[in-house]
Amino acid sequence: MRRRWAKKIDALSESMTVAVSDRARELQQSGVRVVNLGSGDPDFNTPAHIVEAASEAIRKGLTHYVASKGIPELRKAIAAKFQRDNQVAYNPDTEIIVTAGGKLALYIALAAMLEPGDEVLIFDPAWVSYEPMIRMLDGIPVDVPLRPEDNFVLDPDALKRRITPRTKAMILNSPNNPTGRVLTPAELAVVSAAALEHGTWVLSDEIYEPIVYDRHRQTSFASLPGMRDLTVTINGMSKSYAMTGWRLGYLGAPAPLCEQILKVQQHVVTCAPSFVQAAGVAALQGPQHCVAEMVAEYDRRRRFMTDALNAIPGVHCPSPEGAFYLFPRVVYRGMDSNALARFMIEEAHVAVTPGAAFGRACAQNIRLTFATSMANLRQAAEQMKAALE
Ligand SMILES: Cc1ncc(COP(=O)(O)O)c(C=O)c1O
Repeated sequence: MRRRWAKKIDALSESMTVAVSDRARELQQSGVRVVNLGSGDPDFNTPAHIVEAASEAIRKGLTHYVASKGIPELRKAIAAKFQRDNQVAYNPDTEIIVTAGGKLALYIALAAMLEPGDEVLIFDPAWVSYEPMIRMLDGIPVDVPLRPEDNFVLDPDALKRRITPRTKAMILNSPNNPTGRVLTPAELAVVSAAALEHGTWVLSDEIYEPIVYDRHRQTSFASLPGMRDLTVTINGMSKSYAMTGWRLGYLGAPAPLCEQILKVQQHVVTCAPSFVQAAGVAALQGPQHCVAEMVAEYDRRRRFMTDALNAIPGVHCPSPEGAFYLFPRVVYRGMDSNALARFMIEEAHVAVTPGAAFGRACAQNIRLTFATSMANLRQAAEQMKAALE
């Protein structure tokens, strides 16, 4: 019989973060109190002024299709934000597209770029969706391994070795999910030199942009000399404004590429939801102290949890520089990351994501989010300590 679905989709694995959450839910339904540190969804409510802007937009009838690239007010607000926070100039009419989430921004940008067999470099460990997206578009993901022993610092030689004439693009993610790293100017310079030399695109996923700690500062890749016209900058409201369920993201790209990406958006979703875009304007133009307050609270949790994990024998947890994940290496009875994640949920009743979900480089790491309450984190740390000891 003819195969009834696409081989490339059949070959994709289920999202491990979703699988972990499903198991957590099952255990919870059978009465076990599981602390879920599996998924990266802020526990804060969306700030009230943003919610109000969406309600008002609905009441006023902003409930129809809007321009595929986004409502003009939001595109202008995004261009102003790029200029103010990232020192990147994008034309709001021709170089910005509002999308239904950062995830879709990445997908439509890749769709506009890739020919079958094109290679896309991703730094391993990497967020779980880059590789499936590339495969769905008939591209070839190529891992550039980063070493946990070096705290995932970008290795210029490893990057050079993986560039071929088929390399079409590289995906950067800083602040990083899962490692919590923020790329330094020196690391960014390595990538920009390679992009210039080989003329590759760079997709810069900056979805965790404002969530940085201590002295670490995020630099937008497109702000580096010569990089604006080789870069697609991906960002969105999900993480910065606690708006994961609203599905609102955006991208900035040079006009000729943006025109191509827009065709994909038109045929796939038409536009991002209309009244949600009004909320986006309120988010970007309204008071920003809500973001600073959330980041300060993440910082408090980060410090608590890094110390708590490092106090457990066999756990080595670098302090995250940005985003809201911990990515410790755990040495326990020779277990690999999948066995560790299973052990954590079944014995410690703490849902975590195995390092294997993010690539091949982290066989002994697990990822935990601290975008949850301090009470949950305390409980998780206690339960992990008891189980591992
Ligand atoms: C690195 C990274 N990029 C992009 C996204 C997508 O975010 P959204 O589609 O909610 O904007 C996520 C969400 O978890 C992420 O961790």
